[in-house]
Amino acid sequence: MVTLSSTTPAKAATDATDTDATAAHAAPLQGVEGLPDFGSETYKDAYSRINAIVIEGEQEAHDNYIAIGSLIPEQAEELSRLARMELKHKKGFTACANNLGVTADMPFAKDFFAPLHTNFQNALAAGKVTTCLLIQAILIEAFAISAYHIYIPVADPFARKITEGVVKDEYTHLNYGQEWLKANLEGVRDELMEANRENLPLVRRMLDQVAADAAVLHMEQEDLMADFLSSYQESLMEIGLSSREIARMAAAALTA
Ligand SMILES: [Fe+2]
Ligand SMILES: [Fe+2]
Repeated sequence: MVTLSSTTPAKAATDATDTDATAAHAAPLQGVEGLPDFGSETYKDAYSRINAIVIEGEQEAHDNYIAIGSLIPEQAEELSRLARMELKHKKGFTACANNLGVTADMPFAKDFFAPLHTNFQNALAAGKVTTCLLIQAILIEAFAISAYHIYIPVADPFARKITEGVVKDEYTHLNYGQEWLKANLEGVRDELMEANRENLPLVRRMLDQVAADAAVLHMEQEDLMADFLSSYQESLMEIGLSSREIARMAAAALTA
């Protein structure tokens, strides 16, 4: 376990999601054993794409929760509360890029999310609440939680504080999706299976696409995949699916 030096901008980082996202508190710890060199051009280049994916993901999450609120109006207020949390996350991760002097590659991130974005929009247009919830509240949240888990131990001190705060929120979002699907399970089983078959392979591809840049940040693809599948399967178990159904659903990842 690496002990961080007392020069860590911990105070600034603690407040960062609530305060000015443009403030820079640059004090990256370079050359600390086990951690990447946060100031190197290689790191910053990979970070420009990973950070953009995170920022785009938080924005998509915001938009998706607002959209789901239009399908379940009685839940619109709660969903807009979740959506506001996502914008706060976006602000925090924007501050992380500023802190490292990195410009997020947003066009790359838009392309990265495009297939999942299209599937969500199609489901929304068809009024498919179950599919929308599986994509956003289960798949994207489980993807985010696993990525943040793997990132936290190798993040710069500023980003680490922010990410630790964010990951707690993402669990409440995952839980929201789980609870709705659990309460409606008997009516949504078939749609859940179909939505999984169409979207889990996309998440698998997204994990593959991000692997090289993630490795520069010292995040290993195998760890990302294992953490994601474990969060996803736990979530399906919580919804009330049988272990046989869950195994069938997980198998869709192999066909990507
Ligand atoms: Fe978020
Ligand atoms: Fe979230």
